Amino acid sequence: MPESEQKLIHTFSALADIGQEVAHKYNFHEMIRTSFHLLLGSLAIMRGGIARYSRFGHELNFLAVRGLGDDFPVSASIDPADEREFLTAGMSAIEASQAKMLIFFQRYQPFVEKRGIELIIPMIVHDELVGLVMLGEKASGEPFNSADRAIVQAMARHIGVGIYQRNLLAELERKAEQNRRLYEEMRLTYADTVKSFAAAIDYKDKYTEGHSVRVGKYSELIAKSLGWSDERVEGVAVAGYLHDVGKLTVEKRIINSPTRINAKESAELSKHPVVGYDILLPIHHPYTDVPLAAKYHHERLDGRGYPDGLKDDQIPYIAKIVNLADSFDAMTTNRPYKARRPAHEVIEDLQRNSGKQFAPELVTAMFEGMLDELEGGSEDKSFRRLLGREYMEAEGIIPMLRNALNGINATGPLTLVASE
Ligand SMILES: [Fe+2]
Repeated sequence: MPESEQKLIHTFSALADIGQEVAHKYNFHEMIRTSFHLLLGSLAIMRGGIARYSRFGHELNFLAVRGLGDDFPVSASIDPADEREFLTAGMSAIEASQAKMLIFFQRYQPFVEKRGIELIIPMIVHDELVGLVMLGEKASGEPFNSADRAIVQAMARHIGVGIYQRNLLAELERKAEQNRRLYEEMRLTYADTVKSFAAAIDYKDKYTEGHSVRVGKYSELIAKSLGWSDERVEGVAVAGYLHDVGKLTVEKRIINSPTRINAKESAELSKHPVVGYDILLPIHHPYTDVPLAAKYHHERLDGRGYPDGLKDDQIPYIAKIVNLADSFDAMTTNRPYKARRPAHEVIEDLQRNSGKQFAPELVTAMFEGMLDELEGGSEDKSFRRLLGREYMEAEGIIPMLRNALNGINATGPLTLVASE
């Protein structure tokens, strides 16, 4: 086989190897180093370097060098005028002798000349300078002919594409990170807004101070005990925090009445779920069903609730959770006309009303959550914190919860009590 053909085959295989490197190497720096050595090897070039160009810093950073000496700069600045010059030159190799007018060349002349750099090949992809290849003399001592130049240009183009892809990926990663941060900020802002809303609602109602915050927490505990994902748990907690937002429009006098309110006042107060729904509906919530939880948190499984008298399956699940959390808080906190009820009574009540007002599996989830905390299985001590240690650890609570759980689970599928 004639020598020229052998050389051609050799070149093609080196080009194919670089192509493979660029396409498959996960490690970018390794890809550059291997490709560069393939390039040098294809024409037995003694020395050279390859640099990536950063458009933002107008800086070249050398990623691989061979035979340029230890004092060769690892980075070099490029003048915008030079960048334009390179872009005009396209991917064609520039002879060192032609490059003398470049500011870059003048600045780094001692290095370039001392190391015998003969060719400079700008790597341009999609009209963007992505890097530079510098090549010293060939081992044979022969000058680079036009075929040699075509070969190194083709190889440099391949490597340039690799750098370009890497830049795109880095840009994508940067944008993704930016979006992630933005999303996180929005999520925190939303969470803060929700909490301030809850504080505003609770502020209006001096007798049930902290009610919304506690209902949010109890709702969260129930959802957690159901084994729901973090995101769903968060959604349920938000629904709990906001369930009474409609009370903001109810007269303070009615909300704060130290005695039981009359029928007219009660009718006024009963509007708060629908008002809450109207307030929450136009807001874009990251979780679904938050407005529905407000609207239906006073519905009961047996259809005796309000505003629509919905029954079991008709009630949105999230509203059932908030209803249980809401009722639980009403029973376990002191009101002006009613003292909090002791723990055993509350457990009995929830058990008795399981299947009537409350979904049995939710009462089960709540009891299991309490038991878990009492028996030390859970790190979360929220029940104890919200109800007080003495209350939570009242005599006989644990066996009572266990009995209640057996009782609820034994009743089997839910049977509805007719409301008519
Ligand atoms: Fe309510």
